[in-house]
Amino acid sequence: MGLTVAQKILKEHLVDGSLTEGDEIGIKIDQTLTQDATGTMADLQFEQMGTPRVRTEVSVSYIDHKTIQMGFEDADDHTYLQTFAKKYGLYLSKAGNGICHQVHVERFGKPGKTLLGSDSHTPTGGGIGMIAIGAGGLDVASAMAGMPFYMPRPKIVGIKLTGRLQPWVSAKDIILKVLQILTTKGNVGWIAEYFGDGVKHLSVPERATITNMGAELGVTTSVFPSDETTRYFLKAQKRESDWIPLEADPDAVYDKVIEINLNELEPMIAQPHSPDNVVRVRDVEGTPVDQVMVGSCTNSSYKDGKILAEILKGKVANENVSFGYAPGSKQVLRMLADEGELSHIIAAGARILESACGFCIGAGQAPRNNAVSIRTNNRNFFGRSGTTTAKVYLVSPETAAACALTGKITDPRDLEKLFGIKYPKVEVPSEFTIDDSLIIPPASESEASKIELYKGPNIVDPPGGSAMPSDLIGEVAGKFGDKITTDDIMPAGDLLKYRSNVPKYAEYVFVKRDPTFAQRCLENKKMGIHNIIVGGDSYGQGSSREHAALCPMYLGVKAVIAKAIERIHRANLINFGILPLTFKNPDDYEKIDQGDRIKLPNIRKALIENKGEVILYNETKGISIPLQYHLTDREIKTILAGGTMKLAKDFPGK
Ligand code: F3S
Repeated sequence: MGLTVAQKILKEHLVDGSLTEGDEIGIKIDQTLTQDATGTMADLQFEQMGTPRVRTEVSVSYIDHKTIQMGFEDADDHTYLQTFAKKYGLYLSKAGNGICHQVHVERFGKPGKTLLGSDSHTPTGGGIGMIAIGAGGLDVASAMAGMPFYMPRPKIVGIKLTGRLQPWVSAKDIILKVLQILTTKGNVGWIAEYFGDGVKHLSVPERATITNMGAELGVTTSVFPSDETTRYFLKAQKRESDWIPLEADPDAVYDKVIEINLNELEPMIAQPHSPDNVVRVRDVEGTPVDQVMVGSCTNSSYKDGKILAEILKGKVANENVSFGYAPGSKQVLRMLADEGELSHIIAAGARILESACGFCIGAGQAPRNNAVSIRTNNRNFFGRSGTTTAKVYLVSPETAAACALTGKITDPRDLEKLFGIKYPKVEVPSEFTIDDSLIIPPASESEASKIELYKGPNIVDPPGGSAMPSDLIGEVAGKFGDKITTDDIMPAGDLLKYRSNVPKYAEYVFVKRDPTFAQRCLENKKMGIHNIIVGGDSYGQGSSREHAALCPMYLGVKAVIAKAIERIHRANLINFGILPLTFKNPDDYEKIDQGDRIKLPNIRKALIENKGEVILYNETKGISIPLQYHLTDREIKTILAGGTMKLAKDFPGK
């Protein structure tokens, strides 16, 4: 039986498990990517693993998320990242060089390789034919130390593209259509693989737009073949030698297939507040628009910027529109400037924003109250723009430009009729301007030992976990209800600046729900009493925020017992040596209260031998409660050791 592109790359990198059976596989990681919001902690964790240099082929540390530097904390973090990269063998992409995913495709991505990144849009690399996966910082630190990455054994959804995009319809409309079909739910554990005749008409930046926003589907990653189009792009980036051909075998079998005829596709728009709330632009046109923002890692390529410029040439944005453009990289900004294209955007009234995440992450450009904001980024969750009453719509750069000019939601196909604007056919250039002056290479191994790491006062070494004791004797430090999010556990916002300072950040665990929780835990910890959290249904839903496990670990939490624990948070708990347990009978949730003294006798032995069930003894109430666990052998080993970092320290060959 033939293989798909994803299966070929995974097969080549498989170090554990099988592609045809079992729950999970382990793969070797060739490249890593970290960004400054998650990278500081990942780097601190890597330091603790004791590995002298990264063991990947290429690791890159990007500064693109916290570039406004409102206090010393972010600036200190950036200097730490720079000294760390130089010492431990990473490239560092400085602030101003661009958004990690755009720069990685331009300068580092290679077809056929694996990439693990501590950012959920790492799958952008699939546009150049990589298996590129987003993960928690500790997973990326472990990959930097040479450890395999474990993931669910994937199923492949083949997305067959036929035909060709029509004028004014773009790659963004393809992924919005895919989101309309597959939605954001039910795709966990799948890989989306694009094939069919329509693929050959899509450039690498267009493919990268599609794989970028594949993250919103909830799939593990998305991937395109590596063909002559990929070779053309790499040659234009003066990296033709990085190209290899890679396509699915003619008899490759997909677990399911959906088909999109590009000839029939129309401009699409994701309405508030979910990326899969997709309709045709035609269905909502005429709605007044207050803000238009173009850029972010989804639509920040040279091609996107030039299309915007060509549409705007000689025109001025509607007076009621607050208009901004953030080019994705220094390369894009320089080329648009050198070619005079930037001038059209400026003349049209757009504010030129930094080549950084900026508005996409809610760092600046919060719209006014009740605004309709039209954006080219990938997420329109409630409140992400910084204004909770705003309504954010996601569109292509073509649609965004049309909306900026008219001041209302407008199908870009009407631009000729309205303004006499002809469709600007923009090709990927045969030569990009190569300027890597903001990419600092690592020091040689001999120089590395002389490099001192810079650590400002906000950077505190992360705590290590402790091995699971033979008998887990503790107290229920907190009991919470259903649908506790990672933000309930570990609030972000202003507190994010403490991400590199776990003891400080841990003071705020559950602060919104139970302000004395952290204090209680620390007192117990001092007395050698283990802390247990009890939760209801969907405990830990929301984001992949690993501090929602790391900070409780610091507080001495050893187990979470809930009716159900969300998948990514469960993985993070295991990574930090916290045992995830569920009630066998959900009604037993009522039989345990905050302050109860509890005991899990012989827990180490029980986890290995009991095959999924342990008995908790509630000493306070004098009753026994059956609990369940679903853990692979690898996960049990991790929990017994006290977390992934403990295992990494013993990893052979470092
Ligand atoms: Fe940055 Fe937004 Fe992409 S935060 S990495 S531009 S999703």
